[in-house]
Amino acid sequence: MSVVEFEYKSGFPGLRLTHSNGDASIELLLYGAHVLSWTVQNKQLLFLSDRAVFEQGKAIRGGVPVVWPQFGPGPLPQHGFARVKTWRVGKTNIDGDVSVDLNLEHDEETLKLWPHKFHLTMTLRLSEKSFVQELTVNNEDSEAFEFTTLFHTYFTVDDIKTTKVFGLNNVTYLDKVDGGKTKTETNQSIEFTGETDRVYKDGGKNGNPLSIDGRIQIIASSTMPDVVVWNPGQEKAKGMADVGEHNFPKYVCVEVGHVSDAVKVGPNQSWKGAQEIKLLQ
Ligand code: BG6
Repeated sequence: MSVVEFEYKSGFPGLRLTHSNGDASIELLLYGAHVLSWTVQNKQLLFLSDRAVFEQGKAIRGGVPVVWPQFGPGPLPQHGFARVKTWRVGKTNIDGDVSVDLNLEHDEETLKLWPHKFHLTMTLRLSEKSFVQELTVNNEDSEAFEFTTLFHTYFTVDDIKTTKVFGLNNVTYLDKVDGGKTKTETNQSIEFTGETDRVYKDGGKNGNPLSIDGRIQIIASSTMPDVVVWNPGQEKAKGMADVGEHNFPKYVCVEVGHVSDAVKVGPNQSWKGAQEIKLLQ
């Protein structure tokens, strides 16, 4: 059981969490509180692009970006600023499971972009075949604020063309590649035949286990009811400098969050959202 600091790349310090029997590990950066790697028995379960860019202010393609306080485009930079800020290491624990807290507070730069005082804690807890990621948002302001948020998880898959995402049958979704039309999922599983970018509203609340090929299960807290399913497909991937045509078949994003409408947190109040990711096979 250990938490070890290391330098992932120059200027990008990280932490490596290792579970007692050494069979599971997680690597995360202070930059973005960004989980880059999760291995169980030496098998990598998260996708990180070989073209990912590691530069201050830029988002990293792969792993688990933390989207906060804005999902998608809007007045703030795409997907908010939490993923491009450097967090501080807080409490670590190596009794039982291994866990670490990372913290982020408002600063001059965030106040210019988003005029609210906040304190975020991202807690990561690694178990033998699973991990839990929890985001706590404290409002340290004298007025309420609103946000949307998401754990933007990139999972490795053998081939996107044979990948199936289960657990969203009968759920209403917004189809971003079909002009934002609202549709209902009629299939037992989602398959990928081209660019796919959908927001399943309350997808995590329909009682069906959310899984990728019955191999990986994703369990969201009731405060993170929406599920985004995204793969850029061949053409779009080709045009994305940090993805490339060779990478689109290797991953699927299944992202749980609160994005269909905003979370409102009053002064001195807090909110928590979490995901648990389990390796089933
Ligand atoms: C998904 C969105 O969550 O993130 C997509 O639904 C978006 O529309 C994708 O393309 C990647 O976003 P980014 O900012 O990391 O390129």
